[in-house]
Amino acid sequence: PAKLKEFDKDEVAKHRSKETGIWVTYKDGVYDVTKFVEQHPGGAQRLMLAAGGAIDPFWAMYQQHNNEQVKGILEEYRIGRLKGGAAAPVADPYANEPQRLPALIVRSQKPMNSETPMELLAASIVTPNELFYVRNHLPVPQVDPAAYRLRIEGEGVRSLELSLEELKTKFKRHTITATLQCTGNRRNEFNRTGRVVKGLEWEGGSISTAVFTGVRLRDVLLAAGLEDDDPEVQHIQFEGLDADMAGATYGASIEVDKAMSPHGDVLLAYEMNSAPLPADHGFPLRAVVPGVAGCRSVKWLGKIVASSEESHSFWQRRDYKAFGPNTDWDNVDWDAAPAIQAMPVTSQICEPAVGAVVEDDEVTIKGYAWSGGGQGIIRVDVSADGGKTWHNAELQKVPQKRGRGWAWALWQATIPLPKGFTGQLELVCKATDENYNTQPENAAPIWNLRGVNCNSWHRVPVTVQ
Ligand code: MTE
Repeated sequence: PAKLKEFDKDEVAKHRSKETGIWVTYKDGVYDVTKFVEQHPGGAQRLMLAAGGAIDPFWAMYQQHNNEQVKGILEEYRIGRLKGGAAAPVADPYANEPQRLPALIVRSQKPMNSETPMELLAASIVTPNELFYVRNHLPVPQVDPAAYRLRIEGEGVRSLELSLEELKTKFKRHTITATLQCTGNRRNEFNRTGRVVKGLEWEGGSISTAVFTGVRLRDVLLAAGLEDDDPEVQHIQFEGLDADMAGATYGASIEVDKAMSPHGDVLLAYEMNSAPLPADHGFPLRAVVPGVAGCRSVKWLGKIVASSEESHSFWQRRDYKAFGPNTDWDNVDWDAAPAIQAMPVTSQICEPAVGAVVEDDEVTIKGYAWSGGGQGIIRVDVSADGGKTWHNAELQKVPQKRGRGWAWALWQATIPLPKGFTGQLELVCKATDENYNTQPENAAPIWNLRGVNCNSWHRVPVTVQ
């Protein structure tokens, strides 16, 4: 191969803008990524943090880069090699991650993203802590509960710092049973339409339910002096303590009306299923925003900001939004769609599994159903012939008021199979919530580039013998 041109670090460091060209190094390679910046799935801004220097520490943090496809893309932009060779290898920011059960289905190791196994989901309304799905964007921060302070600041409030002890003793304790679901739950069904989406390849297990205990966000905001219907304040922003090496933290926001509503039940939770919050789920304190996409329930909560504006976080403004099937990465205008808050009604067959063999003249189907915005589930319809004929499933629910149906329903049905039939059948389920919202028949018409809000009829092919 032709000898590669050599550049020293100082020269690379001069290339940090569109005008000079945007260069980065990876190991001992030098790359001119000027043309790639706008296509960076994590946003141009994030890539610009690495401009003029090594991307190695960033890739150690965001390990979704660690595959041949991404390395191949980078290689297309190579212009030379680094004089003196690669810098010392970067320490692994994920060296102190908590222990996890091997039963979890891991979709990414660093950061940890894992699903609850399907057959366990339908086994009980409350998911045990160790089996609750995990969705982390960054390394799990280690927080000393004695030194921990929650900071409240912003418009319409006086700044306040609260220790864990103060939160537990000065405010009334509240408990809710709530389902959290990732916006990308069931994303892989979009991939199976033949049109690929970007994101973790979730099946239907990035959803779980727990009994959360803590204090009401409303009570804490009132204590900080926020008044109901303060016209200055439209959003309540949450900031996590998990940060990348540039100091960027995970963040999200919810609307102030949800935060302040006495019926919104938004908690700052310190317990999950009667135990202290586990490290993966936000120890020592997390927001639990019931009825809203999991991404707004910020874990390892460090700061709450009352504001006229939404969180400026990437995950609020440049991710977790849904567009029409005509919008793709080359024409997306992120500002044109609102951030996902409540999610649409969905359901999933947890048993039998895809491809199962049924050796009986009837089949027992089990699953879950949930709707966003506190809309409880009133009915689940199941079919053993791809949706031609339907049966009612029996629902198992926790008592919840209308409009405050934060927890999913589990369901079960035993339905007859056509007499003497052998071969392939398609089991199908669809749920209806208390406002009579129901699910679309297919995934293709709701395809969207980030693969969020997948809620089409769930279909499971099985073989009858
Ligand atoms: N909060 C912080 N600080 N960091 C995160 O990465 N992930 C969010 C949300 N809160 C996240 C976070 C997302 S996308 C989801 S779906 C839920 O946490 C997942 O919560 P769980 O891991 O407890 O299931």
